[in-house]
Amino acid sequence: MAKTSTNTTDEAARFRALPWFYNDLDGSLAHAWAMLGRGVADRRSAFHTPVVATIDETGAPRQRVMVLRAADIAARSLRLHTDLRSEKLVHIEERPCVSLAFYDANAKLQLRLGALARIHAQDSIADQAWLNSRPQSRLCYEQAIAPGLPVVAPLPELPASAHVAQAEHGRLNFAVLIIVVQTIEWLYLAIEGHRRARWVWKDDRWQGTWLAP
Ligand SMILES: Cc1cc2nc3c(=O)[nH]c(=O)nc-3n(C[C@H](O)[C@H](O)[C@H](O)COP(=O)(O)O)c2cc1C
Repeated sequence: MAKTSTNTTDEAARFRALPWFYNDLDGSLAHAWAMLGRGVADRRSAFHTPVVATIDETGAPRQRVMVLRAADIAARSLRLHTDLRSEKLVHIEERPCVSLAFYDANAKLQLRLGALARIHAQDSIADQAWLNSRPQSRLCYEQAIAPGLPVVAPLPELPASAHVAQAEHGRLNFAVLIIVVQTIEWLYLAIEGHRRARWVWKDDRWQGTWLAP
């Protein structure tokens, strides 16, 4: 009798541990976008720094970590900032297909996004992002030597914050990437059974299906 009662308690605890979206396909999609929103707002969130993959001129995948700056669920878009001279922009001009991977160990969630990237440099989107970026962040774009070029020795240290007022020089090297999401693949890890789903943007809506994990 006592054993049955313990089992019931265990079952209840196990059920309570499952998140609200566990068996809810629409809820899982909403949760995915909420996690992206948190990744923008909370710099300690693992979703703040996704791995962004492009395809280089030989067809090989190239990956790097970038900071997630904005997520817009209605436009199904994300915003990233970069240096206009960076190699990844050469890849994107040639092939705008990109892939972003996010993993939050605490949330037990992996997201993999398939997307198209657009480069904005001398337009109002880039102007606005530049205006809203922190003065200290702008300093990175002041570097006279393009990122990725070989140098004979490490470059001089960045100027101290007293110099920040002059960081407007970096504007010409500043670019925004607007990432329009086409597919979302979602994997939630749970001892009770992993959950995996995919959504594709088709006919003006997200069309989703559960997948075997
Ligand atoms: C935590 C972290 C955040 C980063 N954020 C950015 C970023 O927002 N934009 C960016 O262009 N590079 C960022 N980088 C540097 C890139 O990972 C990469 O080294 C750089 O963009 C050059 O990549 P590319 O040669 O493929 O263009 C970040 C690196 C780390 C480790």
